Amino acid sequence: MLRTHTCGELDKTHVGDTVTLCGWVDSYRDHGGGLFVDLRDRYGLVQVAFNPPDTSPVEIEASKQLRAEYVIKVTGRVAERPPGKANPNLTTGDIEVRATQLELLNKSKTPPVSPSAAKQDLPGEDLRLEHRYLDLRRPEMQRVLMLRDRIVKGMRDYFAEHDFIDVETPCLGRSTPEGARDYLVPSRVHPGNFYALPQSPQLYKQILMIAGYDRYVQVARCFRDEDLRADRQPEFTQLDLEMSFVDADDVIGEIDGLCQKLAKEELGLDLQLPLPRMTYDEAMRRFGHDAPDLRFGLEIIDCTDLAPKSDFGVFKNVVAGGGFVRAINVKKGTEQYSRRGIDGLTEFVQGLGAKGLAWFRCEEDGKLGSTIAKFFSDEVLAEFAERLGAEAGDLILFSAADWDMTCKVLHALRTKVGREMKLYDPQAMHFSWVVEFPMFAQDEETGHWAAMHHPFTAPLDEHVPLLETDPGKCRAKAYDLVINGSEAGGGTIRIHDAAVQSQVFSLLGIDAATADDRFGFLLHALQYGAPPHGGIALGIDRWVMLFGRLDSIRDCIAFPKTQKATDLMTEAPGEVDARQLKELSLKINV
Ligand code: AMO
Ligand code: AMP
Repeated sequence: MLRTHTCGELDKTHVGDTVTLCGWVDSYRDHGGGLFVDLRDRYGLVQVAFNPPDTSPVEIEASKQLRAEYVIKVTGRVAERPPGKANPNLTTGDIEVRATQLELLNKSKTPPVSPSAAKQDLPGEDLRLEHRYLDLRRPEMQRVLMLRDRIVKGMRDYFAEHDFIDVETPCLGRSTPEGARDYLVPSRVHPGNFYALPQSPQLYKQILMIAGYDRYVQVARCFRDEDLRADRQPEFTQLDLEMSFVDADDVIGEIDGLCQKLAKEELGLDLQLPLPRMTYDEAMRRFGHDAPDLRFGLEIIDCTDLAPKSDFGVFKNVVAGGGFVRAINVKKGTEQYSRRGIDGLTEFVQGLGAKGLAWFRCEEDGKLGSTIAKFFSDEVLAEFAERLGAEAGDLILFSAADWDMTCKVLHALRTKVGREMKLYDPQAMHFSWVVEFPMFAQDEETGHWAAMHHPFTAPLDEHVPLLETDPGKCRAKAYDLVINGSEAGGGTIRIHDAAVQSQVFSLLGIDAATADDRFGFLLHALQYGAPPHGGIALGIDRWVMLFGRLDSIRDCIAFPKTQKATDLMTEAPGEVDARQLKELSLKINV
């Protein structure tokens, strides 16, 4: 070992000890007679003093050559800092190391990304990603990657204690049915054929249940070629599991326990179990979204039945056309949103496709007022006020449209207003479940049904007849874990009955030949004594993002891709040479 201690571990108990440290020069201050260096490693920062009489003139002269990010080895004596010089912000702030020997281990060019920079002084993300080795030296990045390590270890330990076994599944395989575009890998040995990188280990884990493994878990890399957002990466990591002889409650219960353990360990939070659950239909009704942020209220209030009592054309026409009039009551919202503020909200919802934003403000006398109030009689206004629980100062925002649009608009408004009016503590963490998702979503234009989760998801037992009569109403044994309005995991109980499976395939327009071609191996396996089974996958990157209170998924991944799915450090994806293409029997057509 080149060192006796790490930079972060020294404190008053080491006073008088001679230590040797290695690390990076985080910053340096030249005081004429001598030099102070803050030396950094993964464990922390410590002040090293190159001053007489402890440090010889020769070593002091050498120390003056040090620059940011030089790598050094220093030997010296730990001493208490002089009175008034302690730094309470550092764990090592009571002491300093008075250097006697300095060895330069390596120089550094002037770093384009300074690991010691405050957040607001950091350069743009592109430069940080290009020089990720410097960016990753930042204590904040190291904090996040260590948090990630603890979360993954906590998950592994928990499932090992619960009798799950870790089985690896292949990355080179057949296309999996998660609904995104596949990343394809051309086969050299089979010209014209391709492997697909897994969108998840879904089919393999079901096979493992059929093979009798009972409880499987894996920290699995998944690949999906889809449009990227702040919480999506083209390759991401799941904590993936599957269980035999279980129903939805068992899977949910298993994850409840995991949430309780990690919330306690990482957040100091005591979660009451079972975690709250609501059905998908209730979530859409109350919050307009299948992953509602339950850190605050601001629930949707349906006024569809009241709307035709007014003479307001927008409301009447929408309701006459089978649409809905729904609202949120922003308590004391008139203090936050002036008329101009409301114009801003109107533009915001128009950007989402809404036609407009009708609104009321509740006056001091409790009456509702608005530019549209003239279309409402006093009695009808009073009915609205009562339904909406309106009190002086409240701002009521309406969406009149078809069901899906009212959900979209009011969810977006609720999220925006909740944030802007600080309706919740940004440090708060809320865990809950949304269950019983629809089996299918219908394409408006073509009328085709698509699986909401994936085509192996089982319908609720009592809904099996709806597969024939009213597939849109058919609800699934599906469950999503929601943390602070973010989908942190999702899973289902699977179909293990061949007849139900073929019914679902035919609804999805997957004929027998296509089914056999795409997932024949699973369908065959299901015929050899498949146990009832189900599982879930947790989005580990999202967990880290939420537990670490980060805004971007890229900050939770050591080497992430940009929004354009490129790695700026390695410059992947890149061109390949003609010989490689020839070997793969590929021709580039751009
Ligand atoms: P699903 O597709 O819902 O389910 O994925 C499970 C969880 O993975 C996370 N996630 C992502 N995280 C980052 N970037 C992405 N592009 C991304 N896509 C998904 C989310 C999500 O909840 N095989 C099923 C699971 C099962 O049925 O057991 C599956 O993959 O947090
Ligand atoms: P208009 O009659 O189009 O001038 O609209 C009157 C008010 O109703 C304006 O405040 C519009 O923003 C609002 N509005 C129009 N269409 C809708 C809609 N579909 N949902 C909610 N408000 C609307």
